[in-house]
Amino acid sequence: MSLIDPFGRKIDYLRLSVTDRCNLRCRYCMPAAGVVKRRHNEILSFEELYQIAAVATELGIQKIRITGGEPLVRKGLIDFLARLSALPGLAELALTTNGSLLPGMAEDLRAAGVCRLNISLDSLQPDRFAQITRQGELGEVLAGIAAAERVGLPLKINTVVMRGVNDHEIPDFIRLTQERAVPVRFIEYMPVIKEPGWQSLVMTGAQILERISRTHQIEPLEAADRAGPARMFRIKGTAGTFGLITPLSGHFCADCNRIRVAADGQASSCLFSDHRIDFRPALKAGGWGPLAAALKGLIAAKPDRHLLSTLDAPHTPFAMSNIGG
Ligand code: 5AD
Ligand code: SF4
Repeated sequence: MSLIDPFGRKIDYLRLSVTDRCNLRCRYCMPAAGVVKRRHNEILSFEELYQIAAVATELGIQKIRITGGEPLVRKGLIDFLARLSALPGLAELALTTNGSLLPGMAEDLRAAGVCRLNISLDSLQPDRFAQITRQGELGEVLAGIAAAERVGLPLKINTVVMRGVNDHEIPDFIRLTQERAVPVRFIEYMPVIKEPGWQSLVMTGAQILERISRTHQIEPLEAADRAGPARMFRIKGTAGTFGLITPLSGHFCADCNRIRVAADGQASSCLFSDHRIDFRPALKAGGWGPLAAALKGLIAAKPDRHLLSTLDAPHTPFAMSNIGG
């Protein structure tokens, strides 16, 4: 079965947030004052999350990515993942994490059926890492990356580029792709929480690429090697590859194949649309039908594109920790 939206896009990818909590406070994700945490009873139970995943995979979702907040902070996650990965229609179970809890969990994640990880890492310098995340320890994330490599979990690194904050570290990240054979995807900073002075932080994909070309010869990879919305490149003559994710400057809306469900049951068909469908009534009603109808309704309302590229789009500022990136 396939899920096709009104613009002919095949929707086969669900991003499922299991918590809005996080052990870090990244400046571009959460306001300095923090965000109001959902109470535990506002968060979907693992049983409810499983029902959503079961109906979604039956209708045509093939890939599920677990997000947060930080998914690894939720208790009972590993058992839930093991159940998910046994769903017949599911081809791929992936997870996005800040990596800090991976040292103790990488092995269990692998055993529970997680196929791949995205690890968010915005600085390779301990002080700057602590500033960006407001409370993170770089050493923990590096140990997490090593743990994932040890148990054979394929990983990618996601780096949000902020001018004047970490842009001068781009060459260090490029070096990492060569030394460790880990792809790094540079992400355009998105003004989702509109932190003070955000305009000066924005660096477009073209500017990032220009910066890399100053010191390295690069060649684009075939579209087949693309990982989702990233445009991928290779550093000529090396095994190192990197990507650009350009939500602002280069629309990838035309190829968008994803929907999102937040930990409180609010589903959205576009990261930058304020339109949400609450899945809780369908969950309360019980059974397959209401949930299937809610999912189909969500996809029927998927907008063709977002307007964020105008940089002062009319979206309501939101904490990425509620929706999982
Ligand atoms: N701009 C760009 N990327 C963001 N992420 C979270 N907030 C933002 C933002 N404002 C990314 C994180 C992580 C993923 C979950 O979303 O870097 O890789
Ligand atoms: Fe936590 Fe990720 Fe948000 Fe950072 S970006 S505060 S690690 S949820």
